[in-house]
Amino acid sequence: MNIHKIAVIAGDGIGPEVIDEGVKILKAAAAIAGDFTFEFTYFPWGCEHYLEHGTMMPDDGMERLKKFDAVYLGAVGYPGVPDHISLRELLLKIRKEFDQYVNVRPVKLLQGAPCPLKDVTRDQIDMVVIRENSEGEYSGAGDWLFKGKPEEVVLQTGVFSRKGTERIIRYAYELARTMGRSLTSISKANALNYSMVFWDQVFEEVGKEYPDVTIHSYLVDAASMYFVKQPERFQIVVTSNLFGDIITDLGAAIAGGMGLASGANLNPEREYPSMFEPIHGSAPDIAHKGIANPLAAIWSASQILDFFGHGDWGAKVLGVIEQVMVDQKTLTPDMGGTATTADVGNEVVALLSALYKKNV
Ligand code: NAD
Ligand code: IPM
Ligand code: MN
Repeated sequence: MNIHKIAVIAGDGIGPEVIDEGVKILKAAAAIAGDFTFEFTYFPWGCEHYLEHGTMMPDDGMERLKKFDAVYLGAVGYPGVPDHISLRELLLKIRKEFDQYVNVRPVKLLQGAPCPLKDVTRDQIDMVVIRENSEGEYSGAGDWLFKGKPEEVVLQTGVFSRKGTERIIRYAYELARTMGRSLTSISKANALNYSMVFWDQVFEEVGKEYPDVTIHSYLVDAASMYFVKQPERFQIVVTSNLFGDIITDLGAAIAGGMGLASGANLNPEREYPSMFEPIHGSAPDIAHKGIANPLAAIWSASQILDFFGHGDWGAKVLGVIEQVMVDQKTLTPDMGGTATTADVGNEVVALLSALYKKNV
């Protein structure tokens, strides 16, 4: 039996609520498929851990996580713990120390998904954003001088290494080539005269190895406008850490909302575990009410299935997510329904069983 060991960090706010449903779906898919299984180990790390112990995870946390095949994460951050501490010491620490330098964020308008744009068809919103996930604006380098004094100065340094920039851009070119899709780089060289001039140069250099890939390059401000006005311009997108963060919330907004957007943090060499998560946060405004939309976490579960080579099951789960939205019977309030988080998870399991159990 093929056993996949998953470390679950459900985290804060709605994190545990949506992760419960994702785990349900992974268990159901494995039970129906019959030739693989998941072993889940829960780590109660996050803001509550911080308030109790003064740390987001124990000192040997990273060592413990290393033994797993993947990490499944809910959300991190909650009022009461400063965000720059909670995120830097848990989510961003894992991304960086496990060298999960590729952040794959699909922006795809699924069947039945609500879209706020007028007269847009599904084929017009179908992209994959490849976000640099290990350095750039998120490097954490900087200084805070003369704190509280009139001459106070704050420095936040963007770090763009050749290795880091080349590898993310090459990953995106490879993906574009494999999928037979165009590649768009999003940068901002007109204002960021070192980092983004370098980014554009590397995009051009690496591109010489991929003459078969059609490329475009946009400034991030114009790209944001096109995301709304002409999303069909984009197929594979590659961009820096911060720009990728911002445009994928925009992407989520045009493709069904925050409750549906998922992301995979990959260490492509598989030297360390990769991490899967919905891209939304802990949503304190709706936490503990049982109404969070679990579909983003369930889409992450589908990405986990793909990652372990069960792409047929990943596709089946994605198909069932679409079915739930087309049916419109069991949806959470953010999608105009009255269902609870658990109702939606149960519905996905019921549909998976109804559609595929008989075939086993
Ligand atoms: P958020 O994504 O938590 O919420 C933004 C809005 O989207 C809220 O109105 C929320 O109710 C809604 N929303 C998000 N997920 C939803 C879901 N599954 N179903 C229904 N509605 C949903 O962003 P925020 O409010 O800016 O951040 C809250 C906290 O989460 C902060 O501490 C922030 O730093 C953290 N955060 C963590 C992650 C992560 O762990 N990956 C991502 C983003 C933000
Ligand atoms: C995301 C989040 C994180 C990010 C935050 C919580 C640090 O917004 O995963 O999109 O900026 O990467
Ligand atoms: Mn974000």
